[in-house]
Amino acid sequence: RFMNKRNIILDCDPGHDDAIAIMLAGKSDLINLLGITVVGGNQTLEKTGRNTLNLCQYLDIDVPVCLGSANPLVKILEVCPQIHGESGLDGFDFPDLTIDYHNQNGINFIVETILKSKEKVTVVTTGPMTNLALAIRLEPKIMDNIDEVLLMGGSYTNGNVTPAAEFNIYSDPEAAFIVFNSGLPVKMFGLDVTRKVMVYESVIERMEKLNNKASLLFSKLMKVFNENQYRTFGLEAGPLHDPLPIAYLLDESVVELSWVHCDIDISRGDSYGRTNCDIFDYMKLPKNTFVATKVDVNKYWDIIEQGIKNYN
Ligand code: BDR
Ligand code: CA
Repeated sequence: RFMNKRNIILDCDPGHDDAIAIMLAGKSDLINLLGITVVGGNQTLEKTGRNTLNLCQYLDIDVPVCLGSANPLVKILEVCPQIHGESGLDGFDFPDLTIDYHNQNGINFIVETILKSKEKVTVVTTGPMTNLALAIRLEPKIMDNIDEVLLMGGSYTNGNVTPAAEFNIYSDPEAAFIVFNSGLPVKMFGLDVTRKVMVYESVIERMEKLNNKASLLFSKLMKVFNENQYRTFGLEAGPLHDPLPIAYLLDESVVELSWVHCDIDISRGDSYGRTNCDIFDYMKLPKNTFVATKVDVNKYWDIIEQGIKNYN
């Protein structure tokens, strides 16, 4: 069993949904979490970093937490307080911090951890893809020891920042461009599927009943997340985006994937930051991306429930 654990690095910008992804990856028989790297995105790096430490301390997840890039490669950072609040993780009071960052920059951590790992490493990103893009440019050899890149981001239907672009890709289109064109196998879990997993009140009630520290975190964060989604987008519940690639590592049957050509629009026009997926293969271009096209919603909540129970 232990031998089958997948080695992963989680790169994120917590963020309410990132927090649940950390919870899901942090205690599992199937995942060996090598470390968490943080990026500026939902909030400034200072805040997303602090949120990550708070989450790890509260959930007792003892892995290196490293600060990566504060800023996108080219663009100016545009944070998202409308959804995640001024702290980036409004809604939960964490105790005072007693843990600290691992003493290494996140990009160096990604490079060194992957180079020295005996088994291949899976990189999961749930924020702008800046850190992984920089790591690939710094040491392209890491690509030989990465089995695949799983990302929450993109959309082949509509975006959530512009009609064309989803937040994580919109935040750093050039970084996404580097990763999607790197030759690495990329699996994209975009809004097309994550918009289907809405944290309705009934979901919160179900998880609340589990009555442990993870369920408390879940319900408090999701209530604020839902209020913000309602105020900002008029949605009756928030889409729980970021845990989906982790859920996929725990049970691949949670989504259906399609093998397509995907281009990242870096043209700075109206569709800047769009993940242009050729679902119907019009262009007959080389395929580079597995894109999630369907999600089993019930299975997803079962996986989340089990993830919370792992903290009993
Ligand atoms: C993505 O944007 C962020 O606000 C969320 O954390 C998620 O990663 C959804 O578009
Ligand atoms: Ca995120």
